[in-house]
Amino acid sequence: MSFRIAPSILSADFGRLAEEVRAAEQAGADWIHVDVMDGHFVPNLSIGPAVVEAVAKVTSLPLDVHLMVEDPARFLKPFARAGANTIGIHVEACRQPQRSFDEIRELGARPCIVLNPETPPESIRALVPEVDQVLVMTVNPGFGGQDLIRTTLPKLAEIRRWIDAQERAIDLVVDGGVCLETLEDVALNGANVFVMGSAFFQSGDYKLFVERVRALLEAHVDPSAGG
Ligand code: DX5
Ligand code: ZN
Repeated sequence: MSFRIAPSILSADFGRLAEEVRAAEQAGADWIHVDVMDGHFVPNLSIGPAVVEAVAKVTSLPLDVHLMVEDPARFLKPFARAGANTIGIHVEACRQPQRSFDEIRELGARPCIVLNPETPPESIRALVPEVDQVLVMTVNPGFGGQDLIRTTLPKLAEIRRWIDAQERAIDLVVDGGVCLETLEDVALNGANVFVMGSAFFQSGDYKLFVERVRALLEAHVDPSAGG
């Protein structure tokens, strides 16, 4: 299994965003995670397509765009055109997810389904074969820096079993409260992509942080980690 580290720029210094993104890439991050919030689906506002376009210009890393917005179908095209490689939509926010997955693929991006901590995994079971990625929220979306909700861990494990029953690779992303202390638990429950906002950007030394994450994964989870 390939492990991926995806720093969330929500916790970066927005006044030095280009520098922060370049530093994350130089430190060995695999993806850049972009949290888009509309003030309706979540009680916060964050980033729009213009910022995604600016980020795409300063990095060659894939941009993993997480839409925490009502009716996300309205925004698929602007974010795909801005350079999103993956577009995640919440199952709680869209009426016809399959239609959006088709549109995301037509736009040349990878579709991802996202679910909130209290949303039962069954709500996305039928959608697993249709996506390239499932993202499990392990905090209530809206803010960085919250503690991981441990009752979400069995949900990760269950979705990992559904993914492994498919014949193609589907990424299982964990988002919220992931840090050096919780990494092993989320990885052992099946996540292979680790979104890290505050833990990454407050670490002080991004390169050292990435090394520590990879060392933990290699030591405790999978000897072939990082491949
Ligand atoms: C929360 C966002 C997360 C957040 C993670 O609404 O979806 O991506 O930035 O931040 P940390 O890693 O600090 O929990
Ligand atoms: Zn996110």
